[in-house]
Amino acid sequence: MRRFIRILSNFIVKFRRAIKRHGIIGLFLVTAERIAVLANNLRPSIRREISMREKRAAEFDLQYGVDTAGFIHPTELSINHPNQVHAVSYRGSDSELFRKAIGTLSIDHRRFIFIDFGSGKGRAVLLAKEFPFKKIVGVELSKELHAIAQDNLKRFCSQISRCGDVELLCADAVAYPLPDDCLVCYFCNPFDATLMARMVLNIHESFSRNPREIFFVYYNAKEGHLLDSSDFFKSIETIGSVRIWQATQSSAGFGE
Ligand SMILES: C[S@@+](CC[C@H](N)C(=O)[O-])C[C@H]1O[C@@H](n2cnc3c(N)ncnc32)[C@H](O)[C@@H]1O
Repeated sequence: MRRFIRILSNFIVKFRRAIKRHGIIGLFLVTAERIAVLANNLRPSIRREISMREKRAAEFDLQYGVDTAGFIHPTELSINHPNQVHAVSYRGSDSELFRKAIGTLSIDHRRFIFIDFGSGKGRAVLLAKEFPFKKIVGVELSKELHAIAQDNLKRFCSQISRCGDVELLCADAVAYPLPDDCLVCYFCNPFDATLMARMVLNIHESFSRNPREIFFVYYNAKEGHLLDSSDFFKSIETIGSVRIWQATQSSAGFGE
């Protein structure tokens, strides 16, 4: 009985907190989204794929002595920021797919900064160290996930580390000022269409000011239509659920 009362009072506290955070309609939408994800995850092919990815995530953590696994809904994090309502749940990039996708870029990595917008516990940042980027940046909104990523970076014990300059920031990705270098902008489905549209605009503005090589790598590219419908990005590659676009000079009005 006592256990039941404790569970019920925990539920009421969480329910009140969620109402305060999302409002009634927002909470309804979040719940509907969760049910849709759960229903989709029940399909046998999706279940097999998820279990393979979870296995790889556990192996990654064990191999490198880090903590990047798990699925965390934004309401489980104490993010106190207006853009939290646009956030998508935490789940690290699949290591195999990440390596394949970044490996297809035929670039001189030493000229590029890799930026993970919504870096979570830092798995993509750690994986990016396998490539000789000039610098790697991770931008994460949640303080808890940012702290875990910092700890992971300290503990990461890989033999392959081709980039020593890694910066982790706890900040809103859309407010991050883009550096003037060549960029690989990485998004592992971090937020909804509202913020993705702002990111597309930010990158386009930065490119128009200073045309250079900018790649937009979008894992689980749910809002890929935003880039497809923009004149400023050319779709160049699709690897499973990862799509890659490049900012193009011609569309920025500079001629090809
Ligand atoms: C799917 S996880 C991606 C984790 C990581 N990039 C990886 O590939 O392993 C998305 C992350 O984006 C973060 N996020 C959501 N909205 C954000 C925002 N406005 N600014 C920065 N991070 C954000 C979430 O907290 C979550 O950790």
